[in-house]
Amino acid sequence: MIATLKSYVLDPYPLRRLALDVARRVDWGNFDFKYFNNSFGRPNYAYIMYESALLARRLGLKRISVLEFGVAGGNGLIAMERLAQEIEQKLGDIEFDIYGFDTGKGLPKPEDYRDLPYQWKEGFFPMDEDALRAKLKRAKLVLGDIRDTAGDFFKKYQPAPVAAVSHDFDYYSSTAAALQMFDAPGNNFLPRVFCYFDDTVGSNLELYNEYTGQRGAINDFNQNHTDKKLCPPVYLKSRPIQEPWYQQIYVHHHFSHPDYCQFIAESNQQLNLGH
Ligand SMILES: C[S@@+](CC[C@H](N)C(=O)[O-])C[C@H]1O[C@@H](n2cnc3c(N)ncnc32)[C@H](O)[C@@H]1O
Repeated sequence: MIATLKSYVLDPYPLRRLALDVARRVDWGNFDFKYFNNSFGRPNYAYIMYESALLARRLGLKRISVLEFGVAGGNGLIAMERLAQEIEQKLGDIEFDIYGFDTGKGLPKPEDYRDLPYQWKEGFFPMDEDALRAKLKRAKLVLGDIRDTAGDFFKKYQPAPVAAVSHDFDYYSSTAAALQMFDAPGNNFLPRVFCYFDDTVGSNLELYNEYTGQRGAINDFNQNHTDKKLCPPVYLKSRPIQEPWYQQIYVHHHFSHPDYCQFIAESNQQLNLGH
């Protein structure tokens, strides 16, 4: 309660925030209202899924995949299912496949200091698999350690190209293993993949930095690849009202992807001479 009150006091537009919180609770408004005002339950998921669907459409695709790395109880995966339905209805010509990756048993043993054992412990966030399966409508669970399941994922599931990914494995080691999947052949992905990294901002407790945890994995990925880079979408920084999750979004650019240079902007552009 005190934390909620504090967050309103710290918000530069507290009344706007209150109105949107009420709208979110009662699920008020059409898709455009909720997307524009970030009043979806998980606006970060809405952003990566909707923007990736728009990109897929411009590339001429009809079906795309969204992945969640780290499912735990399953609230995120269920949110993805709801959003997929809303985006499919809104756009009419794009469909989602949804995959959730998890050990099913909670966090594995931390490998070293980069997994931040001062913050996380083995066994945190176990899954009630039966309860989750009973609630899921379409998402597929890929259970096991990512170091074992990543290798044959594309062969085994033949997913539609991956367009959006939520990374919530907490650890450096697990995130680094998930990022290795970007080394699979380019046709498994869109040339630009919208990603959300949950554990990149945190608080004075986690003290996330470029050498450990998810930020460390992103940093090392960028250092170890020349034609693939994870970059924040600079555009989000220009929005007049900033949301904390804007800082947790990265786009995976695959510069040598066969479709990276496919033209997707408006085809009729002209700058007429002004008066
Ligand atoms: C914080 S929870 C995910 C929460 C979920 N995204 C949500 O929004 O409700 C992190 C999850 O990552 C999973 N995880 C971490 N490392 C893993 C690994 N190496 N392989 C598979 N799952 C892993 C854990 O089992 C845990 O359930």
